Amino acid sequence: LFGLNTSYIGRNVHFEETVDSTQNIAQKLALEGAAEGTLVVAEEQLGGRGRLERKWQSPKYKGIWMSLILKPVIPIMKTPQLTLLIAVAVVQGIQEVTGVQADIKWPNDLLVNGKKLTGILTEMQADSDRVHSLIIGIGINVNQQLEDFAEELQSSATSIYLETKTSWDRAIIIQGIMKHIEKLYLLYLQKGFYPIKLLWESYSISLGQKVRANTLNGSIFGLAKGITDDGVLLLEDEQGVVHFIYSADILMET
Ligand code: BTN
Repeated sequence: LFGLNTSYIGRNVHFEETVDSTQNIAQKLALEGAAEGTLVVAEEQLGGRGRLERKWQSPKYKGIWMSLILKPVIPIMKTPQLTLLIAVAVVQGIQEVTGVQADIKWPNDLLVNGKKLTGILTEMQADSDRVHSLIIGIGINVNQQLEDFAEELQSSATSIYLETKTSWDRAIIIQGIMKHIEKLYLLYLQKGFYPIKLLWESYSISLGQKVRANTLNGSIFGLAKGITDDGVLLLEDEQGVVHFIYSADILMET
């Protein structure tokens, strides 16, 4: 990536035109021993995937579809921390380059006025309880016009173009994001999760809100009280019982 000023995050970039999913390519590279910070970027994904088994629309040249390999030496239960870190870095990178200020909906959706701009999907390769590689997929809607979104997404999705009425050079946005990921990742390795958690909280729109968490085990309604030091959401239900939410779809009910 021309003009990138990081020392290892995104220094090794694999560009692809059309792929099924950049996650699959990054998974394969990680198994083959790719260095930490290796980035896979594609112009188009035919089988882009999202959280909770959803599909992720990735039309050609319209957005940033990329997967980053990280190799933090941490136990599996701490991996949500990295997802939150990436969400913060992506908010900061987009803001710095384009001026668009996104909010984070737990765990890692980036929204602008309630519409989805970016999704993050973390997958991992691990042996026993140690992480071998984290494959962090980042999908950012950049230059889509309204009609580029599938009809059912038009009321719930947005793009940087729609927010700024300007087309953007995607490489510059990627560079900005890589810079912020590297900065926060080095901070994390040095100081731990706490400073990242404070930043995440400052961008979050979920905390202090009544939300519904749809998990694989059922639905819980309650007050989003905070996140734990591991990045797990604390939800207090109407009986005052606090639930630890590891993975869910969060609906904000206002
Ligand atoms: C979500 O919001 O559900 C997460 C969406 C993640 C999409 C990105 S695009 C690049 C990478 N490759 C994929 O197949 N998915 C992620």
